Amino acid sequence: MLRIALLPGDGIGPEVIASALTVLERAGQVFGFQISTRWFDNSAERYLKTGETLPDADFRALRDDFDAILLGAFGDPRVPSNIHAKEILLGLRQRLDLYVNLRPVKLVDARLCPLKDVGPGDLDMAIVRENTESIYVGIGGSFKPDTDDEVAQNTMLTTRKGADRLLKFAFELAGQRRGRLVLCDKANAIESAHGLWRKALKAMAPQYPNVKATTLYADVAAMRMVTHPQEFDVVVGDNMIGDILSDLAAALVGGLGLAPSSSTHPGRVAMYEPVHGSAPDIVGTGKANPLAAILSAAMLLRDFGQPAAAAAIEAACAQSVVDREVTPDLGGTLTTAQVTARIAGAL
Ligand code: NAI
Ligand code: MG
Repeated sequence: MLRIALLPGDGIGPEVIASALTVLERAGQVFGFQISTRWFDNSAERYLKTGETLPDADFRALRDDFDAILLGAFGDPRVPSNIHAKEILLGLRQRLDLYVNLRPVKLVDARLCPLKDVGPGDLDMAIVRENTESIYVGIGGSFKPDTDDEVAQNTMLTTRKGADRLLKFAFELAGQRRGRLVLCDKANAIESAHGLWRKALKAMAPQYPNVKATTLYADVAAMRMVTHPQEFDVVVGDNMIGDILSDLAAALVGGLGLAPSSSTHPGRVAMYEPVHGSAPDIVGTGKANPLAAILSAAMLLRDFGQPAAAAAIEAACAQSVVDREVTPDLGGTLTTAQVTARIAGAL
């Protein structure tokens, strides 16, 4: 029994999570596995009514009672500064120490790629982003704010433990893929924090003789992803570099509507979510593309012993894209529910 917590969130989050659940249930019938689910209402709506974001009881249940969390998106225009979204999303990532952010990026239809002469066989990478450290740790501040003398400072933090554990995951993933790993950094300019990543890579590489590990400066990597996307297999970066390169890579294969992700820490409850936000501009219109959420559910199944079901879902999504049986953001005319029914039917 696969125990899944559903955290739909705000905006189109509940719409796309309902779609993902329909597909998960169908996959269970076809491939013969069972799931149990529980909905968690940690939405902006609830926050506005009760002031609660992620109460301790919810956090403990998510941490202890489930194999995986399937999350929609958080963010609501009625909540200034999106305080609830930050507390829930960052709270889960930090408190569960979900240090691996994995974003697979695969081109399924040349039509969706803004590069010329690039087809489905040319672009298939996995971006592995460190999810807990770097310059996003919130260490810093402003001196004499809002004056002409204002000085602002943020600290970039890299730990050897943090680099080692992420690299281990990336090497193992590369071993299961095409055996290439590239660490992207700015070790030329950020000598200490990014130099540490290179040191860790150099020390670990001999343990994985089947993986060809290289380094690239992140600015060069950004250029080469556009000019030579075929070269990339597993791409590793710290929190900031991974953030930027993963959005660049997602744009090469069709953008937000197709980008799934996972945030994991081996041995702990794992989190799966579409990369996109809550898209308040299209809530309730039927225009929400459910594929990113459905592909996130496929990642979940692959991680929990159902690789055949995962592959079948991915193939069904790819076929929908190729047949233009998709929502308007991908050039189709179908609604969220119609796309969902098509994927479930294809299974
Ligand atoms: P967004 O990703 O929600 O939307 C950007 C644009 O893409 C919009 O035009 C939207 O309609 C479109 N879009 C996004 N997902 C789509 C989908 N599945 N199907 C069709 N079109 C889609 O980003 P935005 O507008 O910057 O943020 C909106 C809210 O979402 C904000 O409150 C923001 O903080 C939050 N957000 C939450 C994230 C999360 O929960 N992980 C990530 C990004 C933003
Ligand atoms: Mg980003």
